[in-house]
Amino acid sequence: MLIPQNYWHSTLCAENRPVPNLLVIFGASGDLTRRKLIPALYHLFMRDLLHSDSRIIGCARSEMDKQQFRQSLREFLTGEDQEKLNEFLGRVSYFSGDYSDPATYQKLRQQIFELDPGQTMNRTFYLATPASLYPQIVPELGKAGLCAENYEGTPWSHVVLEKPFGFDLASAEALDRMLHETLRERQIYRIDHYLGKETVQNILMLRFANIIFEPVWNSSYIDHIQITAAESVGVGTRAGYYDQSGQLRDMFQNHMLAMLALVAMEAPAVFDADSMRDEQLKLIRSIRPFPIQELDKYLIRGQYTQSMDKALPGYRQEANIPPGSNTETYVAAKILIDNWRWRGVPFLLRTGKRLASKRSEIAITFKRVPHSIFPQLRAEDLEPDTLVLNVQPEEGMALSIQAKQPGSKLCMGKLTMNFSYAEVFGGKVPDAYERLLLDCMLGDQTLFIRSDTIAAAWKLLTPILEAWQKSDSQKLDCPCALQFYSAGSEGPNAAEKLLDGIDSTWRTIK
Ligand code: BG6
Repeated sequence: MLIPQNYWHSTLCAENRPVPNLLVIFGASGDLTRRKLIPALYHLFMRDLLHSDSRIIGCARSEMDKQQFRQSLREFLTGEDQEKLNEFLGRVSYFSGDYSDPATYQKLRQQIFELDPGQTMNRTFYLATPASLYPQIVPELGKAGLCAENYEGTPWSHVVLEKPFGFDLASAEALDRMLHETLRERQIYRIDHYLGKETVQNILMLRFANIIFEPVWNSSYIDHIQITAAESVGVGTRAGYYDQSGQLRDMFQNHMLAMLALVAMEAPAVFDADSMRDEQLKLIRSIRPFPIQELDKYLIRGQYTQSMDKALPGYRQEANIPPGSNTETYVAAKILIDNWRWRGVPFLLRTGKRLASKRSEIAITFKRVPHSIFPQLRAEDLEPDTLVLNVQPEEGMALSIQAKQPGSKLCMGKLTMNFSYAEVFGGKVPDAYERLLLDCMLGDQTLFIRSDTIAAAWKLLTPILEAWQKSDSQKLDCPCALQFYSAGSEGPNAAEKLLDGIDSTWRTIK
């Protein structure tokens, strides 16, 4: 049963006012800039969250002038009010440069000094480039004196980075050493766009701004938690990157563990960047290491094959994928957290490409009642209560409980109370990049990942990557063979094994 009516009363807002920023985007002619960053900045501008003194400077290798660059952005802002759009684009400039050439940074320095002669504005350098260019760009920014800050850090100089943050523990540590030669940790903004999603942020509000959930948010009342990030798309045009990366690095090490941390962490003392990230780190460090000798009981990797109806290609048939590739496109894991709150509660995480549909959700299944007082209804007949946080595509949440069906007979059934963002707040939920870009420009690191948390995640996952590699080259006999699933299905059957001892099934992805 669906309760269609939702109510939203009074709004308590804690919003910082925008501050003047010079935002420099490296990789300005790339996809990320055009599809995500520029539209997000435009929407911030429309919401009055881009300070009137703020300016955007694009930099890329492509030869273009300012007008051509502005023109190239228009097609990603179709349907917008032309007058407003012109006003926004009037704040955007461009220069072409080779990232390895120190002259590029001198040119940038000159532009920055022209726009901000008094050196009073904050600077945000967004590296929307492949990660392989970070070791070129960051030191050069430093040498050009563009990352210098005074002791208080104002005006600040922040560098925003996209994943991958390394591909294992050693490379992540090397990346970190390189960054810290030029920057302090407080200057580094590592993006995990899942943390910018409204529903993911709402996990914290749900848990810590209400009294009713926290008392039952533990192993005494929760049976298990499933976290899913399923995609229907395949590898697309990203074969070069993806075949080197795979799903464990691409989605699990970051987005999946980030969602897990928010669901399972302790309440921070205050809602600020360090307190929040201390708790996330503590949580990731409490995850029990995966036992490599019996890995298939805890983690499985899969790869999609051609769909039954042959309409969808298999991973190995995708353009530019080596025919014998063992790269995983699916990972499912049973995670146990060794702390007082979660002892014995399985967290079932699952993420994959070319699954039945696009769906990301967090489903909390509570324990069954210990005893049924109702005649003819055994405790095991009463379905457990569930709380589902829908991350996408329909953002919202649903609480399902047992209730009596009206009538003289005692009929019990599942009652679902649904809350949909679209229904209550109308329109589209802001894109994750809007929130994250705003926070970078406000100097708030709360939703960005700290280096120690990244290292803790790699420490957990690197032994798995090594075991897979050794197993594929027959240097190690570990129960970690690649499991195949048809494109468009719900994933490999082998994932069922992770549910041994759990009174449930995987939630359907459709
Ligand atoms: C990215 C991954 O981080 O997240 C992609 O690199 C993936 O492979 C994407 O498709 C999924 O994001 P979303 O927001 O569509 O779930």
